[in-house]
This record gives sequence, C-alpha cells and structure tokens, in this order.
Amino acid sequence: MSVDALLDAARDACENAHVPYSDYPVGAALRTADGTVYVGCNVENANYSNSLHAEEVALGDAVKNGHDAFDALAVSSGARDGVTPCGMCRQTLVEFCDDDLPIYCDTGDGVERHELGVLLPDTITAANLD
Ligand code: THU
Ligand code: ZN
Repeated sequence: MSVDALLDAARDACENAHVPYSDYPVGAALRTADGTVYVGCNVENANYSNSLHAEEVALGDAVKNGHDAFDALAVSSGARDGVTPCGMCRQTLVEFCDDDLPIYCDTGDGVERHELGVLLPDTITAANLD
C-alpha cells in the first residue's frame, strides 16, 4: 500500500474515533513488513486515563494477529494538524519498530515525514534489560 493510501486508511479510521471528551479524533494506519495494514482510532473513557490512543489500538490489533515487524505508520487527526504520536505511543512503537520507521503525519494539504528514532531518541529498549 502506498503512503497516500496508508494516509487515507488513517483518515478513514479517524471517523470511528470515540471522543466525547476531547472532540479530537485520531486515526492511525500501521503497515506490517508483509504489507498488511492495521488501523486504530482513539477510544476515550469517562475515566480519562483509561483512554486508548489510535496508535496503540492499531499496534495491539497487529500484534494480536501475529505481526511483530512494521515498516510504516500514518497518523491523522480530524483537525489535519500534522499531529505526531505522543510520547507514550512513541515508546509503544519502539518495542517493535526500528529507529528508521517512517511516520507520515497528515497536515491536510500534505504529509510530514518523521522518523521514530528522531521523535524518541535514546530510549529504553529490551537491550537495557539483558
Ligand atoms: N491521541 C491519540 O490517539 N494519539 C496520540 O498519540 C495523540 C493523542 C488522542 C488521545 C485523546 O483521545 C486525544 O487524542 C486528545 O489527546
Ligand atoms: Zn499516544
């Protein structure tokens, strides 16, 4: 799937967000090494801290289905503001993805390309726990 199609998948996933508290829908589309795409949206909760982020929903679905290698992520908010994954989601991605994972963020009139290792350098990984 192309970057444009991945971004469209993130936009589509955004439509299913459950965001009665923030009114800030987010969609994510994660492409596996074999080309399968898993999507997620944010799912908020009246107990705010229980809320799920779009990226973790997408990653959880992919891992649940047996995937552990990923080669691209696209993220889109309803505001089309180029939002990037939050700190928690960056760490969640680091568990499975290399520093050079491209993260494509929706600016509405275009796409901004980031890399995971730039967004979250020098973080804890499994290697620290050996
Ligand atoms: N949100 C995500 O789904 N992904 C991110 O990494 C950024 C934030 C959600 C959480 C909350 O439901 C809303 O956006 C506002 O923070
Ligand atoms: Zn997040």
